[in-house]
Amino acid sequence: MASLDLRNVKKAYGATNVIHGIDLSIRHGEFIVFVGPSGCGKSTLLRMIAGLEVVSGGEIAIDGTAVNDVPAAERGLAMVFQSYALYPHMSVRQNLSFGLENLHMPKDEIARRVAEAARMLRIEPYLERRPGQLSGGQRQRVAIGRAVVREPRIFLFDEPLSNLDAKLRVQMRVEIGSLHQRLGNTMIYVTHDQVEAMTMADRIAVLRDGRLEQFGAPLDLYNRPASLFVAGFIGSPRMNFLEGTIEAVTPSAMTLRLKGGEAVTVSCAPASGAEAVGAAIKLGIRPEHVTLARSEAPDIRLAVTLTEQLGGDSYLHGTTPSGETFSVRLAGQTSVRRGDDIGLVLGTPTLRHVFNAATGVVYPPI
Ligand SMILES: Nc1ncnc2c1ncn2[C@@H]1O[C@H](COP(=O)(O)OP(=O)(O)O)[C@@H](O)[C@H]1O
Ligand SMILES: [Mg+2]
Repeated sequence: MASLDLRNVKKAYGATNVIHGIDLSIRHGEFIVFVGPSGCGKSTLLRMIAGLEVVSGGEIAIDGTAVNDVPAAERGLAMVFQSYALYPHMSVRQNLSFGLENLHMPKDEIARRVAEAARMLRIEPYLERRPGQLSGGQRQRVAIGRAVVREPRIFLFDEPLSNLDAKLRVQMRVEIGSLHQRLGNTMIYVTHDQVEAMTMADRIAVLRDGRLEQFGAPLDLYNRPASLFVAGFIGSPRMNFLEGTIEAVTPSAMTLRLKGGEAVTVSCAPASGAEAVGAAIKLGIRPEHVTLARSEAPDIRLAVTLTEQLGGDSYLHGTTPSGETFSVRLAGQTSVRRGDDIGLVLGTPTLRHVFNAATGVVYPPI
């Protein structure tokens, strides 16, 4: 196990800055996911931690000791890539033992580690096969096994499941999770898939354009997104956003005027109340927090353009009177049909998120 600290870590390729100063403290044994859209700098950050890329600024410390100048091989880390990077001409057993033989480790110790990793990852039956004779999922287990036998202080994974089909991805997610439970090592896992992040992480670091947007437990990000970007990125189907302005502010609530003319109350307020009146906002509400108006007055109307019945859940998609697209997720089955005009209640005031439209920053809930 090991802790990891990033202090103002930066990376430039020539004159182009791609990582703009990231601070992050990871504790012993945590499962951390770096998530963000393609090109946001996840791999670059992971490769700097691994020692495969030179750090342009700031400091990376493992267990409190700076490792900026420590070569990759001496950092005690092991990395698993999307492309399995197995040696095609070697057996699975040789693929697992090769790196240890290079370290001149005693033969019986190598055999012990290979046997243990093979058992843990359920690849014992394939030890004498070559990678070409394995399925994608089996190959990725061998690639993980190759990291396990090194008994690293920290495991680094770079989109290891992206080449697998959806069903196998779900299965491997569970296997990596149980590997983490069994070994207890610190693990850093990079993905562009927010569902992987939500299901696997102890804490998620959301990256955007080389900056850390938010760092927290999965449900913290879901319940209290700090920005429009995190709100839109975490959660599926995506959070709905409606344009509007701040009409009135009290110490614990705001009244918003939406683009379509509706008034909505939210239980948050800007720090400097009166100045915010008139400011442009985006009101965020998750599809699962919207309900159909029955006895109560609707907050907003929706012209339904598509209904999806999944059996257990139903999705309604449509447009608001002001022409904004909007989705609703209902538990169970629905009689609402395409072409219906329905009234919606936008959750309770505490489930409504308000973001400054100019900065994207949230007005924190009270
Ligand atoms: N070797 C390189 N030289 C120049 N630019 C690079 C290099 N590697 C990555 N980049 C750039 O750095 C940014 C971050 O890339 P990367 O870390 O691979 O993103 P991600 O893994 O999140 O998709 C991208 O804009 C990419 O084009
Ligand atoms: Mg990448």
